[in-house]
Amino acid sequence: MKSSVIRPIRGRLPGGARPALGAVSGDVDLCVPAREAPAIDVPVSEAWLDTLAAGLTDSGWMSLDVREKLGRSLLQGLLDEVRILDVTESMKDAGIGRGADLIRDRSVRRDKIAWLQGATVPQQLLLRFLDEVRMGLNRRLFLGLKRIESHYATYHSGDFYRRHVDSFAGRASRVVSLVLYLNDEWASTDGGALQIYSRDSQNKVCGTVLPEMGRIALFMSEDIPHEVLPANRTRYSLACWFRQDEVPLPL
Ligand code: OGA
Ligand code: MN
Repeated sequence: MKSSVIRPIRGRLPGGARPALGAVSGDVDLCVPAREAPAIDVPVSEAWLDTLAAGLTDSGWMSLDVREKLGRSLLQGLLDEVRILDVTESMKDAGIGRGADLIRDRSVRRDKIAWLQGATVPQQLLLRFLDEVRMGLNRRLFLGLKRIESHYATYHSGDFYRRHVDSFAGRASRVVSLVLYLNDEWASTDGGALQIYSRDSQNKVCGTVLPEMGRIALFMSEDIPHEVLPANRTRYSLACWFRQDEVPLPL
């Protein structure tokens, strides 16, 4: 790795094409300024949004494969970014809570995170896709989701995140959680599964999601307890929350 700097791609992306980010090394450029980002090319059909809304309504969570929807090059672009952030030590120890309440407790969570700023083409494409999901869920479930926050996360070998929910009841902040996984050839022996607990009986495991490339987990932030089991190899993901409040809190 020659350089830790993420620099703009020079020149135009071919019409409708996703960024060519196949082989990233230290001197490969990763991003374009916001005004040059290509229009959305990730199809979000009404039928697919119906499926998401039904999953959230019926059981409060679901897991889906979105490899076809997002396409390999966008997924690869996101993976390349998080890898670079990781190897350049640009990710920070994750905490619990926010602003003045932020606690970093390594007995609860050990991942490292970097907030998405929407400054690169892969991030912009993904955020547009997520915005379609946000609006689609609002149309179906009347959740009043106003904005999205999202961070990359890296769990190194041995890292975990103990059972938790993503939002304090009644705070109406994080309403729906979505996690996108970015790991090729993840086997169950690699650990790092997302374990989902029943919203009704908190000790009952009702699902396990392997953090495989292009898989998402979607769940109601306040209702669904979940846990990241210890990973046995480096695990990359991107977590996103659809929020009801308008004003960003301090990170
Ligand atoms: C989180 C979280 C789950 C995962 O970041 O709050 O629960 O599978 N992540 O990475
Ligand atoms: Mn969580």
